[in-house]
Amino acid sequence: MPASEVPALQDETIIVVLGASGDLAKKKTFPALFNLFRLNLLPKATRIIGYARTKMDNKGFHEKIADFLKEGDKSESKKAKEEFLKVCTYLPGAYDEDEAFKNLNKEMEKIEKEGSSKTTNRLFYMALPPNVFTVVAGGLKRNCYVEDGNNRIVIEKPFGKDLESSREMMGELKKLWKEEETFRIDHYLGKEMVKNLLMLRFANPFVDSGLNSNLVDNVQITFKEPFGTEGRGGYFDEFGIIRDIQQNHLSQVLSLLTMERPVSFSAEDIRNEKTKVLRYVPPIKEEDVLIGQYAAANGKPGYKDDDTVPKDSNCPTFAALTLWVNSPRWQGVPFILKAGKALDEAKVEIRIQYKEVTKGLFKDVPRNELVIRIQPNESIYLKFNAKKPGLQMESIPTELNMTYKERLEDFRIPEAYEALILDALQGDHSNFVRDDELDVSWAIFTPILHAIDQGKIKNESYEYGSRGPQSLNNFIGRYGYRRDNESYAWPTTSVENVKGKI
Ligand SMILES: *[C@@H]1O[C@H](CO)[C@@H](O)[C@H](O)[C@H]1NC(C)=O
Ligand SMILES: *[C@@H]1O[C@H](CO)[C@@H](O)[C@H](O)[C@H]1NC(C)=O
Ligand SMILES: *[C@@H]1O[C@H](CO)[C@@H](O)[C@H](O)[C@H]1NC(C)=O
Ligand SMILES: *[C@@H]1O[C@H](CO)[C@@H](O)[C@H](O)[C@H]1NC(C)=O
Repeated sequence: MPASEVPALQDETIIVVLGASGDLAKKKTFPALFNLFRLNLLPKATRIIGYARTKMDNKGFHEKIADFLKEGDKSESKKAKEEFLKVCTYLPGAYDEDEAFKNLNKEMEKIEKEGSSKTTNRLFYMALPPNVFTVVAGGLKRNCYVEDGNNRIVIEKPFGKDLESSREMMGELKKLWKEEETFRIDHYLGKEMVKNLLMLRFANPFVDSGLNSNLVDNVQITFKEPFGTEGRGGYFDEFGIIRDIQQNHLSQVLSLLTMERPVSFSAEDIRNEKTKVLRYVPPIKEEDVLIGQYAAANGKPGYKDDDTVPKDSNCPTFAALTLWVNSPRWQGVPFILKAGKALDEAKVEIRIQYKEVTKGLFKDVPRNELVIRIQPNESIYLKFNAKKPGLQMESIPTELNMTYKERLEDFRIPEAYEALILDALQGDHSNFVRDDELDVSWAIFTPILHAIDQGKIKNESYEYGSRGPQSLNNFIGRYGYRRDNESYAWPTTSVENVKGKI
């Protein structure tokens, strides 16, 4: 059975959140489950069991998660919260003991006996550190798997550290859980604007027909975070920014932006196209890499001031990597994937810069740019040129601007995890990472990751709170990006403004 033909869980369902006392569960998983509950989107009579090593009772657990459950208006939210907590229970237990999982199984059977459902539905959500993934997956398979029911397992990165370790880990998991039972989360695939890429491209012929090497000069996919590792440097140091952001989140965005039109919106049709386009991307070359590490500045500590970071660490907290998609559509267009911590702002966006306007009629008109802002303040805008109103023949840059807050203010933008948990319950794999897709993506990044780990690529440090390493502008410039006018600010082209200038 291909992974896409997985039934939706409709009857009574038990969701087990493993790692329930951790940060991910508290900040993301439970709030997402709460919103689905509040909006009546969970299967009927869903029960949720939090499982972790920490010893506490239901009351202690409810106190721990309650503060993070908010959405909707206050009175409604308070009542919904009480109802929600009633379906959430907590069970402490080890991650590496069959006895503990047998106990969990007993707990689930008890709940199932009370119910009236004909099918048994169990979804295991692993909000766990990677070192216990396979152990827990094994414990669950041996002790909590129902042969004549639906079993699902949801896991989240890191899926290994390079091609080899990823294959090893996925291989271990595969012996236990079938591909159609496995949902690999990349939470970027649950983000509204990332999901919008398919609509934006394939429901707008003028957009998609312009996305090719005839018209596009260069593309940047950027992730910026305004804070550093803030005490968690020791953990971060094992991975670095490329494994944290580019190999998964930004390469997912890249594949949705560059893939060909899928035959349908079915999970396998979409994932076939995504995997195919990534296979056109050769491993990144060292010359296409700029890495950096932030240093103390503006009253903030540097990366190495964190005591948990080794003093000789070459771990990048910033990276700009240029990828080449050698497909007929994209050959020759550089895709610059940039990500960094401790930068000047929080922002994730795609910036497509089109080619220069044909010479002759105009000189120095800026290039068109299509910008898709993924977060914050979701928006899509197209930078284009218009005639400046008045008697002269001059151009002004302006924009077609679709800002969600303004245009779609009545809509609620769901959290990524909400969308993904709902998909997993409904058996829709489209927004989850398939095994071969993961493999292809690791193949692109692994050689430079090894070169960086071996200290072969050493670039420069940058100041906390800056735009990144000094040579970033040169680096991007090398691939053709033209910044038209450093001091150019988006003009407010109100009529008032223009009138004064005639
Ligand atoms: C996003 O919108 C909020 C409120 O409308 C504003 O304060 C903030 O500066 C905006 N952020 C960006 C990056 O535009
Ligand atoms: C688009 O419109 C929003 C809302 O009016 C505004 O905040 C934003 O700056 C505009 N974006 C651009 C690129 O002009
Ligand atoms: C970064 O270092 C690598 C390896 O020394 C080199 O190939 C690359 O050109 C450097 N990048 C920049 C932007 O200096
Ligand atoms: C750049 O933009 C600023 C402000 O809009 C303007 O004063 C300046 O003349 C521009 N420079 C060039 C080289 O176009």
